[in-house]
Amino acid sequence: CGASSSAPSGASSTGGGTNNSSQVYVVGTDAAYAPFESVNPQTNQIEGFDIDLLNAVAKAAGFQVKFENTPWKGIFQALSIGQRDILISAITITDERKQSMDFSNPYFQAQQMIVVPPGSPIRTLQDLKGKKVGVQTGTTGDEIVTDFLGKTDPNIKRYDTTPLALEDLKNKGVDAVVADNGVVLDYIRQNSSKGFEHYTDPKFPKEYYGIAVKKGNTALLEKINDGLAKVKSDGTYDTIYKKYFGS
Ligand code: ARG
Repeated sequence: CGASSSAPSGASSTGGGTNNSSQVYVVGTDAAYAPFESVNPQTNQIEGFDIDLLNAVAKAAGFQVKFENTPWKGIFQALSIGQRDILISAITITDERKQSMDFSNPYFQAQQMIVVPPGSPIRTLQDLKGKKVGVQTGTTGDEIVTDFLGKTDPNIKRYDTTPLALEDLKNKGVDAVVADNGVVLDYIRQNSSKGFEHYTDPKFPKEYYGIAVKKGNTALLEKINDGLAKVKSDGTYDTIYKKYFGS
C-alpha cells in the first residue's frame, strides 16, 4: 500500500545507507518445478535455473533478492497484494495475465507436452477426448486442456503441483498429463525406469516465460530488463542454460 513502488516488502535494508544494493526484493516461486525451481532435500534451499538466472540478473542490475517458496495457487495474489515484489516461476506470459501484472522481456521458450505411459495410444490433443487428463491447476496446460475438453469435463483432474500430476500418472490415476516440456523432460530423466513417452501437438503454441512484477512497478521492471540484457550479452545466461539443459 506504500506509495513508493520501489520499496522492497522485505524491509531488510539497513537504514541510512545510500547504497541501492542493500535493497532486498522478496521473490515468489513455486519450488516444485525442477529444473526451474525446486527445494534441495539436503540443504533445504531453493535452487534451479530460475534461481540462478534471477540471482545473476539482480547482481548485474545492482539489487538483492530473497526467494520465498510460494504455492502456485496463490502466487499471483501474493504479488498483487505486495507480499512478493517479484515472481519467477516458469510463468508463461499470457494476454490475460498481462492485465493484472507486468512481465519482463521473455527469458525462456517453452511448449506444452502430452505425457503418457509406455504403450498408450494417445499422441495428440484430439486423442485426449474421453480420457482422464492430469494438469496443474491454473497453468497454461490446464487452460489448453480445459479449452479443448470443456470446463465441465469430469475427466480433467487438477493438482496443486505438476509432480503430483506426474506421480498420479505413474499410479494410473490418469491416462495422460499435459505440462511444460522442460519439467516433463526433467521428470522423465529422473524417473527413467517408468518409460513415460511424450508428444507435442502442432496446436500447442510457443510459450515464453517472463519475470513478473506488480502492475505499474516500472522502476523495478526496468532494472530486471536491464539485468536480463546484461546477462544475455555477457554469456552468463548461456552458462546457466548449459548447467541445467546441456549445450
Ligand atoms: N508455464 C506454465 C504456466 O505459466 C506453468 C508454470 C508452473 N510453474 C511452477 N513453478 N509451478 O502456467
